[in-house]
Amino acid sequence: MRQVLKRISAPILRKFFKSYLNRPTTYTYGDISIVVEKGVFHPKFFFSTRILLNFLKKQTLSGKRILELGAGSGMISFYCEQQGAIVTASDISQTVIKGLHANADKLQSSVEIVESDLFENLMDHQFDCIIINPPYYPENPQNESEKAWFCGAQFDYFHKLFSQLETRKEPGVVWMILSEDCKLDDIKSIAAKHDIVLELIETDKNWAEKNFIFQLKFLPAATQ
Ligand SMILES: C[S@@+](CC[C@H](N)C(=O)[O-])C[C@H]1O[C@@H](n2cnc3c(N)ncnc32)[C@H](O)[C@@H]1O
Repeated sequence: MRQVLKRISAPILRKFFKSYLNRPTTYTYGDISIVVEKGVFHPKFFFSTRILLNFLKKQTLSGKRILELGAGSGMISFYCEQQGAIVTASDISQTVIKGLHANADKLQSSVEIVESDLFENLMDHQFDCIIINPPYYPENPQNESEKAWFCGAQFDYFHKLFSQLETRKEPGVVWMILSEDCKLDDIKSIAAKHDIVLELIETDKNWAEKNFIFQLKFLPAATQ
């Protein structure tokens, strides 16, 4: 039933998003208001950001060194900072990075903003907690904004991510959100090649889709 609803509503929604998201818009969570630039993943229209925010509300964040890997609008980063965390927001997209700086200035935020393809420019950073809302459709992105959605036809994003996490011998907690819409088994099997297991810690179900929050478990071979 949910699949049918999705199919019917998809073209209407696509048309709406295309015109609405063609200009900067504001998004507010609690008392944090940010501007979301055209081409940046919009937390208002996709459930994953809000699900992560609701999940983070239940965690102790104060004093933790947190990375939002692929920060998009940065709302998660700004929220974590408000809760007392020491936050780094990274992204591969220059448009995103520009937007993060503009919002950080407006909010007088001290979030560290780093332009980086995954961990490439973060090798010297250590984190207690990493939060990832990844692109997961297996297609090659044709432009910068499509990097929010497409992980490469061969799941290139995940191969690189899990390989880097294995090399870093990540000591902190890594949380990743994925939807029922994505090819979960493929992603899990890429993780397994790097001795990483995706442990389900929370499920969110709404009218449109089911989302899962996983905590990454590093098997002994990945931590030695
Ligand atoms: C689904 S959006 C999530 C944005 C934000 N974290 C949120 O939850 O609202 C994925 C983000 O990852 C970024 N991204 C994609 N590939 C990346 C890479 N290789 N390295 C860093 N960021 C990447 C995209 O530009 C996009 O901003």
